Parts: sequence; C-alpha cells; structure tokens
Amino acid sequence: MSIFKAHIAAMSAYKPPLDGRDPHAHLLLDFNERTLPIAEVVQEALIAYIRSGRLQMYPAYGDTVELIAGYCGVPAEQVMITNGSDQGIDLIIRAACREGEEAIIPGPGFPIYAHCAKIENLKIREPQYTREQGFPTEQVLAAITPKTRLICFGNPNNPSGTVVPRADIIRMLEAAPQAAVLVDECYYEYFGESAADLVGRYPNLVITRTFSKTWGMPSLRLGYIISHPDNIRALLNVRGPYDINQMAVVAIRAALAHPEYTHAYVAEVMREAKPMLENFLAEVGVEFWPSGANYVWMFPANAEAVNHALLKHNILVRPKADADGRMGLRITVGTIEQTRLLLSVLRTTL
Ligand SMILES: Cc1ncc(COP(=O)(O)O)c(C=O)c1O
Repeated sequence: MSIFKAHIAAMSAYKPPLDGRDPHAHLLLDFNERTLPIAEVVQEALIAYIRSGRLQMYPAYGDTVELIAGYCGVPAEQVMITNGSDQGIDLIIRAACREGEEAIIPGPGFPIYAHCAKIENLKIREPQYTREQGFPTEQVLAAITPKTRLICFGNPNNPSGTVVPRADIIRMLEAAPQAAVLVDECYYEYFGESAADLVGRYPNLVITRTFSKTWGMPSLRLGYIISHPDNIRALLNVRGPYDINQMAVVAIRAALAHPEYTHAYVAEVMREAKPMLENFLAEVGVEFWPSGANYVWMFPANAEAVNHALLKHNILVRPKADADGRMGLRITVGTIEQTRLLLSVLRTTL
C-alpha cells in the first residue's frame, strides 16, 4: 500500500529517451533543440558569474521579469518566470483544477499536459488533430461542459507542428470562460505569432513560453507565463521564491542583450533549412504534417528502416506513432549544412 494518493502511485514517470545523447558524437534532431551551441557572449556571462563569488547566495531576479516583459511587448504585471515552461504548465493546472474536473487536451500533444492533468486526477477529453483538418476546434468546443476547467494545447503543437488559428483561440476563450485556456507558445519565435495581446481582454487566457528552444538553453530551465495580472499574482502564490536557477537568469539576460544570435538561427531554420526538407519530402512523395515550428513529422512507408539508417550515421530523430498507430519520425530542423547531411542519408533510404 502506498502512502501517496492511489492515482499518483499508479502513474508512470514521464521519461523521455535522453540516454547516450552527445552533441559531439551525434547530430541531435530528436528533441527540437537548437542544433548549435549558444552564443559566446552568453557563455562568457555564465563563466563571469561563476567567478564573481556569488554562488553561495540564494537567487535574486532583479528586473528580469521587466526585461522579459519588454521583449514580449506586454506590461510586467502580466509576466512571471518559471523553471522551464514545464513548471509553468504544472503550476497552471495545479492552481486551476480540482480532482474530478475536466480537461480538454487535444492529441497527440506534448505529453506533459496530460501528465500534469493526471496528477490532479482530472477527467481528460482528447479530441484528435488530423493532418488534413489540423486543430480539432469544433470537437474541442463540443467537449466543453460546466466542469471543464482546462483547455490546453501547443501553438504550434508538438509533435505535429499544427498551428491554431487566432479566431479559433478566441472562440475557445469565449466558449469556456470558467476554464483556463492554456496556450503553450514554446516555439513562439519559430512561429512568429502570439496570443499575448489577447491577455488584457480574456482573463482565462494563460500563455507559457520558454528560453529552451529558439534561445537554446533547455539545460538552464527558464520559462515564463503571460496572463492577466490577477492570474500572475495567484500563480506566484504557488511558485517557490527560488525555483529559477540564478545561472539561467544570468544567461537569459545576456541572451536578451544579444538577440541577433537567436534571430539569425531562426531565420536560417525557418526560411532555408525547413523548406529544403519539406521540398525534398514532397519530391519523393513522403507524407508529412504541415508545421509552424522547427520540426517536421513525416511518415515514410519504411519508418523503422529510415530511423535505423539515420542512427547508423549518428543522426538522432524521434519515432512517434500517430493516432492510428502508424509509425512516423519527428525530425528537428537544424542549419542548412546539417539539413544537407540529413537529406543525403534520407535520399539513400526513402
Ligand atoms: C510543446 C512543448 N511545450 C513545452 C516544452 C517544455 O519546455 P521547457 O524546456 O521550457 O520546459 C516542450 C519541450 O519539448 C514542448 O515541446
């Protein structure tokens, strides 16, 4: 018998396949990460902080929230920082939902949403994305009941890359004023569109974002939430005072002072490398989902063999099955040069 809640003891841990990944031995196209090291100025800022004799102090964040709010173009009262967006997602679901209430989480989506909902013992409804229709807006709207406390989705979604039309986000916000509508903008800089300007109009809108992806710092864990000031005040009652690592704050401040390294990378991936991969897949007749982010979910007939061939060339991608159990590969897009290497292997196996 467990001393813990029965439904929690019965869950399994969320364990992504991280073992053995090495950026010096592999081309890492499996976690939607930045595929290049972060800028030298950011590395220097971290080293300087380590040498400054301050590691024995608890973290203090100064005006970091103001800086991030400035970057987002929203008032600072609408922003709080979190330990990665994973913590933001967890805080929002914990603070908004009670056991037995309902969550609408379209699938397939980022597994953390359902994981956090299960910890709260919520009843999960899972309308399905489709390659042809994209986000299942009508099914989400039809699934709303007075017990719905959460509607949660990525924009763009992971693994499919599907984007949600702004008008549909507004329909959901208006149809479920009693629910937190969590829009996960993890890949915001790749997509380039945000619902952040709707925060003033819709007190049920909660947006999570991160410095893990475009900014290339998932190891440091810094995310943030954008929402109505009342929501931010409530969520700050739940977050711990030191949950964000000081090194993350040092790095992000340096990165925000030099955004050009992120902008240049995003431009190379989205304007050049990703179209190269998409054009190639279209040419060879391999089906893939339209994606607004830095990854493409593709479905070659011989997915396992393709994965195997890529592995043999030290290229890691992520096998992900669709709702019908058909195996696909989610491939992170890197630089032009890395994409050429990827295509050279794909050409021989597709
Ligand atoms: C859609 C989505 N949301 C959130 C995250 C987690 O990001 P973070 O590193 O900020 O916790 C990921 C990471 O893969 C993701 O794909």
